[in-house]
Amino acid sequence: MEKKSVKDLDLAGKKVLMRADFNVPLDSDKNITDDSRIQAALTTINYIRESGAKLILMSHLGRPKGQRNQELSLKPVAERLSQLINQPVKMVDDCIGDEVKEAVDGLKNGEVILLQNLRFYPQEKANDQDFAKELASLADLYVNDAFGTAHRAHASTEGVAHFLDSAAGFLIDKEIQYFQKVLTEPKKPFIFILGGAKVSDKIPVIENMMDKADSIIIGGAMAYTFLKVEGIEIGSSLLEEDMFDVVKRILTKAKEKGVELLLPIDHLVTDDIKKGENIKTTEEADIEPGWIGVDIGPKTQKEFSQRIKGANTIVWNGPMGIFENDLFAQGTKVIAQAVTESEATSVIGGGDTAAAVKKFELSDKMSHISTGGGASLQFLEGKDLPGISALSNKG
Ligand code: 3PG
Repeated sequence: MEKKSVKDLDLAGKKVLMRADFNVPLDSDKNITDDSRIQAALTTINYIRESGAKLILMSHLGRPKGQRNQELSLKPVAERLSQLINQPVKMVDDCIGDEVKEAVDGLKNGEVILLQNLRFYPQEKANDQDFAKELASLADLYVNDAFGTAHRAHASTEGVAHFLDSAAGFLIDKEIQYFQKVLTEPKKPFIFILGGAKVSDKIPVIENMMDKADSIIIGGAMAYTFLKVEGIEIGSSLLEEDMFDVVKRILTKAKEKGVELLLPIDHLVTDDIKKGENIKTTEEADIEPGWIGVDIGPKTQKEFSQRIKGANTIVWNGPMGIFENDLFAQGTKVIAQAVTESEATSVIGGGDTAAAVKKFELSDKMSHISTGGGASLQFLEGKDLPGISALSNKG
């Protein structure tokens, strides 16, 4: 069922409660080191305030575990947002209560206020109905544009939508459009690139993508468990023995469905990840005892890249190696470059994959980079996101 968009709401003069995902990284001096998530919410923020509404913004920041922790105050976000919209953003040091109500009542049309970190209240994560009702009582309308948190059924993402007429913001609309495009009508060949550390985190996504993709490229540490099941020696690389049966099932299913699974044919290995002093490339897929796989090797990079360049649709979730360390970043970089050199519609999962693409300065060459790590994974698993499902239906 199609959800209402912020464009469907009559905003002038109304109080609008908007959930954004301002969960941004901060350095030790509380400087925001990456404001992409604030930037990504600007289209909706500007649309609402320029429509003459009073805008009440809310978000979480980090994981304060239901405790008030000034280290995780949203104040730096209020300051950055003021600069970006060239207008003061008032900050209240709470989310509910008289002080907040007073501040909201004092808003003029077009003005913006930011509430304090929602997760200072344990009721937020518990999706407490009374807390959700309190939040809802601040406004006439609710807009959710926090795609990165849409997989969480929390009071500010799911609960509140039951008490107000509600709609999706432009960011959520755009994320849905891209994911739906690649998942429901992919232009073939459709290649799914999967990486990251653990098979156990990615089982539902592999299962779902096997019904959609023509080829699945598997890199990252999760590839070693696949290789081991295929009888290849993996030295001291990460292994999930309890995933053997699952991996066997995936390999059989892929054969039955005619989905090609591509695994690394060589690797970059080290005998100590922290020291990174001894590093070499293996000749083939086998890894000697005592050595740890940390990235895909040059032959694999070439083979994967050739495939990727011929794709018309690419979805990528998870890096090929420990890209955070420059010594082990080459495989992920080459794959990112290959994606940009293809003609494909490319959708990049949030979290680590988005961070990798940003590190290699290739972000603007991708069709879409999701702002949600967990949320995009849940989308690719074919599951509904509670923060979207709860919004009012169109019509
Ligand atoms: C994220 O960073 O993925 C979102 O903001 C959700 O944060 P969470 O994993 O702490 O719920």
